[in-house]
Amino acid sequence: MRPTSPHTGSHRPHPPSRPSVARAAAARAATVALALAGCASPRAASAPAPATPIAATAARVRSAEEVFLDSLIARMTLEEKVGQLMQSSGAQVTGPGGSEGSLEQVRRGAIGSFLNVYGADTIRSLQRVAVEESRLHIPLVFGQDVIHGWRTTFPVPLAEAASWDPEAARLSARVAAVEASAYGLHWTFAPMVDIARDPRWGRIVEGAGEDPYLGSVLAAARVRGFQGADLRAPDAIAATAKHFAAYGGAEGGRDYNVVDASERALREVYLPPFRAAACAGAATFMASFNEISGVPAHANRWLLTDLLRGEWGWEGMVVSDWAGVGELMPHGIAADSAEAARLGLTAGVDLEMVSTTYRATLADQVRRGQVPVAVLDEAVRRILRLKYRLGLFADPYRGADAARERTQVLTPEHRAAARRVAAESIVLLRNERQTLPLRRDLRTLAVIGALAADTSATLGNWAAIGRKEDAVSVLDGIRGAVSPGTRVVYARGASPTSADTAGYRAAVAAARGADAVVLVVGETPGMSAEARTRSRIDLPGAQLALAQRLHALGKPLVVVLMNGRPLAVPWLAENTPALVEAWFLGVEMGPAVADVLFGAVNPSGKLPVTFPRSVGQIPLYYNHRETGRPAEALNGYTSKYIDVAWTPQYPFGHGLSYTTFAYSAPRLSTTTLAAGDSLGVEVTVTNTGSREGDEVVQLYLRDESGSVTRPVSELRRFRRVHLRAGESTTVRFALGMDDLAFYDLRMRRVAEPGWFRVMTGSSSRDVQEVQFRLDSPSGPIPVPERCGTARFP
Ligand code: BGC
Repeated sequence: MRPTSPHTGSHRPHPPSRPSVARAAAARAATVALALAGCASPRAASAPAPATPIAATAARVRSAEEVFLDSLIARMTLEEKVGQLMQSSGAQVTGPGGSEGSLEQVRRGAIGSFLNVYGADTIRSLQRVAVEESRLHIPLVFGQDVIHGWRTTFPVPLAEAASWDPEAARLSARVAAVEASAYGLHWTFAPMVDIARDPRWGRIVEGAGEDPYLGSVLAAARVRGFQGADLRAPDAIAATAKHFAAYGGAEGGRDYNVVDASERALREVYLPPFRAAACAGAATFMASFNEISGVPAHANRWLLTDLLRGEWGWEGMVVSDWAGVGELMPHGIAADSAEAARLGLTAGVDLEMVSTTYRATLADQVRRGQVPVAVLDEAVRRILRLKYRLGLFADPYRGADAARERTQVLTPEHRAAARRVAAESIVLLRNERQTLPLRRDLRTLAVIGALAADTSATLGNWAAIGRKEDAVSVLDGIRGAVSPGTRVVYARGASPTSADTAGYRAAVAAARGADAVVLVVGETPGMSAEARTRSRIDLPGAQLALAQRLHALGKPLVVVLMNGRPLAVPWLAENTPALVEAWFLGVEMGPAVADVLFGAVNPSGKLPVTFPRSVGQIPLYYNHRETGRPAEALNGYTSKYIDVAWTPQYPFGHGLSYTTFAYSAPRLSTTTLAAGDSLGVEVTVTNTGSREGDEVVQLYLRDESGSVTRPVSELRRFRRVHLRAGESTTVRFALGMDDLAFYDLRMRRVAEPGWFRVMTGSSSRDVQEVQFRLDSPSGPIPVPERCGTARFP
């Protein structure tokens, strides 16, 4: 497991030797900075931030903020400017050179930011040096990977996406921000909004899955959760949309690998969640490690400047990924560090994380006229603007508060939120003969599998400062939920990390004496993580054969999966009576799984990503384009496999419940639409079973024929509804031109006249459909992308 980053040996630096000082001293220092900058107090001068960065650009006047930044930049030396562009890691604080070396750099204004340094006292001490002892008293900004919780670990992002619940995503990010800010952090490198269609790629766990629309809705929710309503609030942290862009498209699923993507694929598949994050006000973006069609993202001026800042009008700051600017050399696009720095800076990478090409070469390159000072100034301005918008010039210590660290972290409310979100993220994949829910009052229940008792695995990868002592394993969750008379017997059986079958015998014996068996199998968190690509995505170790032995006993068998990627487990999918996708759900994993297994919570999660039958089917995703020889056709010469069905094991959007839902066909407000019209779609959903439950109603669209080929189905809306047994509801959606639009042959975004298909139902492959026509005598209708739409909420 990776608490912070793979690159850091030790994450908590030795506290700097100087004592921390009081807020008053900080305020004094900040005032000095302002006086030097020849400006009044920024807090007094600052106006509330505009609703979106794009609105800000539109209404651009020389704001008090810009006046402040102008005068500060005017006073900076070349070295101080370059210093602002450097982000050092905690390892660099504690590592060679030690804390004194780093403090000296802070004093000289040679570092603008740290990552992997946290703790209220530590951060206050470093900040005090920056604002009291450096010449211009410019505060540092502290960033860290706060991915799915800080101390209260929530479900891994892919799991949380299975909730299809933007409010859950907002809430978990909010809790993470409250906790991380207490530890002094100002900024998280999250959300990761990379679309991933290849489950071999280990970082699929960090994103929202394969769909651009679901990914966009969740990206916006996560940004809002981290940043709150006001970035200056002491419990708000700046968000980072990463990794810009198409990082999930790595060839072969091999992390960091090249991506060859057309502009159409970028705009339709990979970019929408980034656009949504920008629209939601994400303060920063992170460039991605990969190249796109020959140009590494860190050197991609089209991507980082023309598109992001130009076309989208986004005003934020771009940080490199870890040493990403330095890596332009091994990419083979920069001959030396001076060229890497020049490429990175002019492409639009403002802050260099960890590698030091900017620090080593930029001042000289500016002096020699190789890099225009205006380009340097613009990057400096963006970093200072982030600090300003975080309120750091007014209060450099913000939320860093040792008392808050104790009182506002891992609170009962935070744990309760983690349990709710965890239960919502569980997907019931299969449930034959109502094997689930289990009765609480069984005489004996066997719980089997190394993962069942593994508290640290519940946390998943990137668990920040989450501790296994805080976490409840599946086994303990079950023990806490059964009736007092029930005997829970545990056997380790098998583990994901070993082929050892020595535990089979005890596991089979435990199962033989039990009324029902819960087998927990899957991956360790370290198997689906950065640089953790798998060439096979089945159950590792000796777990599958154990499942087969247990199945042979003929007992009610429930298999619970713990994993951070789709697994190809056809035998389980076809043979086990009940199969539950439980991912890595965080500190409250045990109680949340028990809530579902015993029916206190009716499962309602839906897959945010396709589960293939075999690794050979990859990439396999629901919103593919059609061939001239669709696989369904009866003729033999069609687009399929000779040794496995072409269809997924479990499609995107799949997820069962303990009750059943019946859907009406979709009803449309009209079957002929004109330019600018809106289409009403309604569908009636009835709970036809005997329990109350939530259902995620899904709406997909297909453009039957376009000037370029269109996906067979695209998610356009969804809604989570709660229905009591027997209850019906009518869910209404409104679709507009934005939902029909795509990029045509000349890459103009248009809605083309012709036939469309609306599909509603409970998964991407369980839908009913109806057609309508878009009429436009004048031809394609231009539909520019805008913030504030359903697509970019
Ligand atoms: C990852 C980023 C992360 C950074 C800092 C990199 O290896 O790709 O996602 O934010 O490290 O920890």
